[in-house]
Amino acid sequence: MGSIKVAVVGTGFMGWVHVEALRRLGIDIAGVLGSSPEKTKAFALKTGVAKTYGSYEELLSDSEVGSVHLGVPNKFHFKMASQALEAGKHVLCEKPLAMNSIESAALVNIAAKFPRQAAGVNYNIRYYPLCIEARDRIRNSELGDIFHVTGSYSQDWLLLETDYNWRVLDSEGGELRAVSDIGTHWLDLIHFITGLEVESVCADLMTVHPVRKRPRGEVATFQGKGRAFVDTENIPINTDDYGSILLRFKGGKKGLLWVSQVSAGRKNCLRFEIAGSRQSLSWNSENPNQMNIGNRDRANEVLPRDPSLLGKNAGRFADYPGGHDEGYDDSFKMCFRGFYDAIASGNTGVGAQYPTFADGHREIVLCDAILQSHREQRWVKVKE
Ligand SMILES: NC(=O)c1ccc[n+]([C@@H]2O[C@H](COP(=O)([O-])OP(=O)(O)OC[C@H]3O[C@@H](n4cnc5c(N)ncnc54)[C@H](O)[C@@H]3O)[C@@H](O)[C@H]2O)c1
Repeated sequence: MGSIKVAVVGTGFMGWVHVEALRRLGIDIAGVLGSSPEKTKAFALKTGVAKTYGSYEELLSDSEVGSVHLGVPNKFHFKMASQALEAGKHVLCEKPLAMNSIESAALVNIAAKFPRQAAGVNYNIRYYPLCIEARDRIRNSELGDIFHVTGSYSQDWLLLETDYNWRVLDSEGGELRAVSDIGTHWLDLIHFITGLEVESVCADLMTVHPVRKRPRGEVATFQGKGRAFVDTENIPINTDDYGSILLRFKGGKKGLLWVSQVSAGRKNCLRFEIAGSRQSLSWNSENPNQMNIGNRDRANEVLPRDPSLLGKNAGRFADYPGGHDEGYDDSFKMCFRGFYDAIASGNTGVGAQYPTFADGHREIVLCDAILQSHREQRWVKVKE
């Protein structure tokens, strides 16, 4: 992976996942930064990273840092990502890229000014090997003509009114929540696999808990489950817990997505089913080492994530032999492999193969249309 060193910002769920995945690729961590000196130090101790920063400015002025990973709440993405680019660093920002499409459009423009610096969004789900295999099979016309794409992304960690995280506030995460937090993963993945572009949407969203009980103090992602908070305050909520979205793709194809963060028993479950004129493909992120291939005139098939059975592209992102399962953390490792391979080969800027700021912007423009459709209760065309 060369000699590039990475600074990781954010010491919660994503901070931890990023540090682990980078290390597994042999990429050095230059240092870490959290929201307070105490958190930064505790995280450095837990991860064994030697250097800590006292501020983002200090991190950006460190000449050892070649690339910055942003694992912080969405409201920081725009400022931190633009500052990193202006400071001459590559940047890999967590999704969603920004709070709204004004910010994400501006980030695309800023990234265009620095084509030799990679500007990526961590749509890691693309990098499950079987998702890459699905893409290649569709490109090779194995499914025939695509008719429709359906699926969902569901979780249960925000099921109760006592479940709380910064995401539930529009001021921290943006006006949409379930749709932008997890729905954009699905929308990005389907665009990546099929190449289909959403032309218009018809959305119906629901806030199951218009009031949530906020514990005093910070609650990291997924950390609320199983904990009893005694000291709470009532907070009004206007972000979506659930959404159903009808999709019309360019070229007349149809789709359907539902998202939920209040679906008991679904821990982190992204599913898709792509129906073509010859075959269909279906996959579930909670069972990511196999993909189902549906046939009409012969038995259905189950394709395991076995590098010897995958095409060349997918095989590059599967390290272990079949039967030796790879999962969530591997998808980050593989996304970072794609990102740092592109940097090493100079393939940054327009046309780069990793998920770019343009991809992040596309998903936020889609979110705008989804929100407008829900508010106006009608089909809305996605802005070009
Ligand atoms: N790709 C994925 O699958 C995936 C999964 C979860 C979260 N995310 C994204 O990652 C980002 C972070 O989410 P999370 O789940 O890790 O949240 P989290 O609450 O677990 O962690 C966020 C961390 O950022 C720190 N922080 C806040 N302000 C900061 C600042 N100014 N400087 C430095 N650190 C600061 C907080 O102290 C906290 O440790 C979000 O954008 C989220 O959408 C992506």
